[in-house]
Amino acid sequence: MIQFQSKFPDTPTSIFTEMSQLALQHQAINLGQGFADYPMDPVLIQEVTKAMEAGYNQYAPSSGHLILRERLSEKTNKEHGQYFDPDTEITITPGATIALFTVIATFIRPGDEVLYFDPAYDSYQPSVIAVGGVPIAVPLNYPDFTLDMALLKTWITPKTRMIILNTPHNPTGSTVSPAQLLQLHALIRDTNIILMCDEVYEHVIFDNHTHHSPLAQQVLRDRTVSIHSFGKMFNCTGWKTGYIIADKTLTAEIRKVHQNNAFSTFSAVQIAIANYMEDPDTYQRLSVFLQKKRDLLMEALKDSPLKPLPVKGSYFQLYSYADFSTLPEKEFAVWLNKEAGVTGIPLSALTEHFGDHQLIRFCFAKKDGTLEKAAARLRELGRSIQAPR
Ligand SMILES: Cc1ncc(COP(=O)(O)O)c(C=O)c1O
Repeated sequence: MIQFQSKFPDTPTSIFTEMSQLALQHQAINLGQGFADYPMDPVLIQEVTKAMEAGYNQYAPSSGHLILRERLSEKTNKEHGQYFDPDTEITITPGATIALFTVIATFIRPGDEVLYFDPAYDSYQPSVIAVGGVPIAVPLNYPDFTLDMALLKTWITPKTRMIILNTPHNPTGSTVSPAQLLQLHALIRDTNIILMCDEVYEHVIFDNHTHHSPLAQQVLRDRTVSIHSFGKMFNCTGWKTGYIIADKTLTAEIRKVHQNNAFSTFSAVQIAIANYMEDPDTYQRLSVFLQKKRDLLMEALKDSPLKPLPVKGSYFQLYSYADFSTLPEKEFAVWLNKEAGVTGIPLSALTEHFGDHQLIRFCFAKKDGTLEKAAARLRELGRSIQAPR
């Protein structure tokens, strides 16, 4: 039999796959995985059809169609006051996850340490391991999930090559401030540490908060790599299209990996998005739209034993069930699926350090009807559905 040594001997099936299978089995309402159950804007679909009919069906340029890179350069300049050259500093990728992997593969050598904040989106750690790097999860402050700069400082060593930041943050919805970005800069300015910032929820930001990108900080310009997802921006996660912005020295290196990894990204989709996003309202309206959904779920769960944690951005909200049950998070999520017919993701599945604070993550990027139905079931906790023992 063929012999090989697994690089991921301890990696279980993804929690999203596991919980989605359970949801199907129990016909539960799935508020687990981060995607919308409502349709995307048909105008963008029509734009793709038009682009295909116009002949954009062969390989796009490796760095992406210039019209789209120009659009993104204008957008970044307007939002963050920094100019990034579409020719040399913006690269279109097949989604954000591939972009994250490409950047890690570009800069991380065996033994290099990569710090990321815990809890975290689940692709960071395995991507670092896949290229021989050493992932190190630095816990965020509890319970507000802000950056702990003093702790971060203790984890920076001569082997640290990269810090991965995610703002707005999945799964906690916390965000970083310009002051924190400057503190981060102070910690790394005399090092060769690259700051990779996952900004896929940049346009899902609530309560008049502002998204603060390290791209806006001139002092961080030469070491920042910023990751974006059109899937999240335009509710088309299945299209797997995203982009990377980085200073030209970093971009030149990233493109060497990108050209041998993906080479290029879905051509017609790029043209369609470039035309569609000419009107900034196509993405600026997202925050208001999703804030209404967050508020709908919170209001509908007001009389339930589930208590929401504050969320400043993203599709997700953590709910505490501590007043209702002492079950560990994974067991509670499985129980909730079966007994209440609602699927959530236990925070413990996305963390090394925060196991069992009785927190479950719900995705509220769902139809109002889906959220109302889920909330009606969850309001039965402590009423017709008794706490598990
Ligand atoms: C923080 C974060 N980064 C990246 C991604 C993936 O983005 P994409 O679908 O464009 O690969 C997700 C998807 O859930 C996410 O939550």
